[in-house]
Amino acid sequence: MPERRYVIDQLISAKRIAARVEALAHEIEAHFADTDKLVVVGLLRGSFVFIADLVREIGLPVEVDFLEASSYGDAMTSSREVRILKDLRAGIEGRDVLVVEDIVDTGHTLKHVMGLLRARKPRRLECCALLDKPARREVDVRATWTGFEIPDDFVVGYGIDFAQRNRNLPFIGKVRFLEPEA
Ligand code: IMP
Ligand code: MG
Repeated sequence: MPERRYVIDQLISAKRIAARVEALAHEIEAHFADTDKLVVVGLLRGSFVFIADLVREIGLPVEVDFLEASSYGDAMTSSREVRILKDLRAGIEGRDVLVVEDIVDTGHTLKHVMGLLRARKPRRLECCALLDKPARREVDVRATWTGFEIPDDFVVGYGIDFAQRNRNLPFIGKVRFLEPEA
């Protein structure tokens, strides 16, 4: 695929993200208030910035673990077939688990991951997703908590990439392609 030129238009500022992350953390804290330890599972790689900010706002004992599921590759369309590339280090049977995801798009990834983890019999299993694109959903799945609902745009920043670029933007932006020059 030839490289297409694009610009990034800001959609959600760093300040709005920070305020929302704090509010989500408080809801999560209230939900799991009686836990002895919460296992917070980040889905790699898109959730790495979000999980870092989120866990610092959660005033509970937490353990951090990561799981990597295959997804887009470098394209912009979902593969629909989900494979686990890196599994958890920890066993989760009987434990409190929070899955942290960057974006719920078609829903295939989250549905697959939640099913896989539920089969391991955690005590409680919830999900917090930073972004949700409800218009794109193909399977019935919902995060327990969602940061922002967004339209069907391709977004980058705050951990989220386009072909492995732009993860380090402090805000969330929308990719806008430029017409090739004549
Ligand atoms: P799903 O299985 O279609 O729900 O795909 C979810 C995954 O696709 C997310 O965890 C992201 O990694 C990726 N994804 C979905 N939408 C976008 C986007 O707008 N920008 C970058 N990655 C995205
Ligand atoms: Mg992802």
